[in-house]
Amino acid sequence: MENNLTFTMIKPDAMEKGYFTKIFSIILKSGFRISALKLIHLTRNQAKTFYKIHSNKPFFEELVAFMTRSPIVVAVLKKDNAVDDFRKLIGSTNPEEAEEGTIRKKYASSIEANAIHGSDSDENAQIEIDFFFKN
Ligand code: CMP
Repeated sequence: MENNLTFTMIKPDAMEKGYFTKIFSIILKSGFRISALKLIHLTRNQAKTFYKIHSNKPFFEELVAFMTRSPIVVAVLKKDNAVDDFRKLIGSTNPEEAEEGTIRKKYASSIEANAIHGSDSDENAQIEIDFFFKN
């Protein structure tokens, strides 16, 4: 991968509030293009596997329950410097710390229900893309 792909999820809180089109409009206006996209309802097993790095954290069970409570959109986005540029666009994990104008500042409601995911490295982007899009 040449630093030009990242992976995102529009999380249950944002989907339930109807923010999907507003969030994707910001993403497209910021120069990202959609390489792949689908609507899915995560199973508990999928959520536990995707977030296994957090399995020892106190919030793990709550996170799995949150991510499986309603459908989400998963997508692969393309742009030069995709991972870093997308992390800047979505803002800090905790919306209270997110910069003005970022997607989480606008649409997230808590550190858990933070509206959107973005890969944190090129290596993890590829792992996350494969998790949802490799047959
Ligand atoms: P994200 O960074 O996309 O992936 C890990 C997720 O775990 C994070 O978004 C939040 O949804 C959730 N998370 C991280 N920290 C906490 C926390 N302290 N309490 C509850 N949920 C959290």
